[in-house]
Amino acid sequence: VIAGDGIGREILPAATHLLDSVSTHHGFKLRYQRYPWGCDYYKEVGSMMPADGLGQLAASDAILLGAVGAPDVPDHISLWGLLIPIRRGFEQYVNLRPVRRLEGVGGPLAARGDAIDFVIVRENCEGEYSQVGGRMYSGTDQEVAVQSALFSRLGIKRIVDYAVDLAQSRRGGLVSATKSNGIFHSMPFWDEVCRETCAARGMEVSLRHVDALAADLVLRPANFDVIVASNLFGDILSDLGAALTGSIGLAPSANLNPSGAHPSMFEPIHGSAPDIAGRGIANPTGQIWAASMMLDHLGEPEAGEELLGAVEATLAESGVRTPDLGGTASTAEYVKAVEERLHERRRGESHQRQAQ
Ligand code: IPM
Ligand code: MG
Repeated sequence: VIAGDGIGREILPAATHLLDSVSTHHGFKLRYQRYPWGCDYYKEVGSMMPADGLGQLAASDAILLGAVGAPDVPDHISLWGLLIPIRRGFEQYVNLRPVRRLEGVGGPLAARGDAIDFVIVRENCEGEYSQVGGRMYSGTDQEVAVQSALFSRLGIKRIVDYAVDLAQSRRGGLVSATKSNGIFHSMPFWDEVCRETCAARGMEVSLRHVDALAADLVLRPANFDVIVASNLFGDILSDLGAALTGSIGLAPSANLNPSGAHPSMFEPIHGSAPDIAGRGIANPTGQIWAASMMLDHLGEPEAGEELLGAVEATLAESGVRTPDLGGTASTAEYVKAVEERLHERRRGESHQRQAQ
């Protein structure tokens, strides 16, 4: 467990509290190892995590992460010191980001009532997020910065393969986000490997330029099922998707190492939100949903479903909402409402059993 910074420290305890409740009910126990890593740690020690941080994490079955980043530490230092090394070091090459409108949550498209239920399969280890490049002539008028994106056949193929598997288990629609009209080398390569991989799997894929795709996601979100995207495109589209469903506070993500060779990591898609940190009003839904995805991954899908179901029921029935959704509830009040739904459902189950 790495709560990290800002609201990470408020929403993470919310998630573990609820995890304890569902795991007890389902007859298993989660053992947490808590790591105090993040920006405060950095200010004290000079690094975001210890040099053997990944070695310490390697022993765990999964990593639950809150958020990373603080206003007084440059973002590229904090993120490249903690979040990104974990994603890469543990080859968590799939960043799975479900975008689903939950009942009872309005959002900017509420009046139209579109059904929104798609998944972004974001490449998580290469692409535009690379350390290849550099700066020269610093501080002069000639100053330049070069940043190289890095795309490999293996990297593209494995993420597209994952997206094909997912699309085949869902409604079967696969869209790939590209920009091969403006980006000369990497995106035509992305398209080529994507086409080949899909053809080999007998899967139809629609290649869409990411600018038009972004517009279409706003205009016709119901048309989408699975979207496979490079690291940066997936990042941008997932914030867009979350906003369409009502709040960026709602959306979860799973950083998966599909081989199981290293632990996978579960986190909300949003950041540490310094503007509201410390006020106890953050929406913990993205974190709780991520925890539910973690339970699925750990082989406890019923517990995962129960947890997410209680969140959905809270939003659909209770009217308890955090300020990002137009409500006045604190994080703690919202968590209490979710817990009440968990208890209610269990009472319902035991009534059913008695009636049988
Ligand atoms: C995300 C975040 C990160 C990313 C940042 C904090 C580096 O925006 O997980 O979406 O871009 O991957
Ligand atoms: Mg992001």
